[in-house]
Amino acid sequence: MARTLIAGNWKMNGVSASLPEIEAIAAGVTPAKPGVEALICVPATLLTRASAAAAESALMIGGETCHAKVSGAHTGDISAPMVADAGASHVIVGHSERRADHGESSETVAAQAAAAIEAGLTPIICIGETAAERDSGKAIEVVTGMLRASLPAGADPARLVIAYEPVWAIGTGNVATVEAVDEMHTALRACLSGIFGAAAGDIPILYGGSMNPGNAAGLLTVRDVNGGLIGGASLKAADFLAIYAAA
Ligand code: 13P
Repeated sequence: MARTLIAGNWKMNGVSASLPEIEAIAAGVTPAKPGVEALICVPATLLTRASAAAAESALMIGGETCHAKVSGAHTGDISAPMVADAGASHVIVGHSERRADHGESSETVAAQAAAAIEAGLTPIICIGETAAERDSGKAIEVVTGMLRASLPAGADPARLVIAYEPVWAIGTGNVATVEAVDEMHTALRACLSGIFGAAAGDIPILYGGSMNPGNAAGLLTVRDVNGGLIGGASLKAADFLAIYAAA
């Protein structure tokens, strides 16, 4: 059985004045609930300070992306060893906003995830279909295809986290139905089992997309949902902690 991970993604939000929210979340998740992990992924500029703020707590800190290369001439990018050096334990790769804004392909995402693992980080590999893909009835086919293409070759399943985030549910308030999430997560687990065998059962599969304190409990009771990747509702400690409490 996979552990539960309640993860926040602050996206391009947060400056020094936001650090008290990290401190409040860190205090609220400490001591940890058995079997439930808490993580906040912050902009690169906040990684070191957020890590320091969470140091004495059960809260983990993550990055929001990393480059596939360790170093070099890539102006503005941040490498996996840099993210790890700044105190992160996890890093999001392949978020739909990165895929859309920066043209990151699933092959790029697989290389980023491999770099993350090499640097000692746990990658959170994001996949999800657009509204048009869902309307065409091809959501399962599209998302399982993205999963296969975004997994680094030969990865240790114990080092992976997957996040299913339907693009149409992100930041829209249009949360996916429990039935649709159940169907997708069951398909993703089956896909992982085909690749990793019994060890696939230990890979957390998170749901993301308009998760909030009002809908979290329903989503988190779906069999193959092992946590959430939360955007907007992770910016306020009270909301994030209410979702953590529901887990
Ligand atoms: P929202 O929770 O704001 O919909 O964002 C979800 C997301 O993209 C998390 O990575």
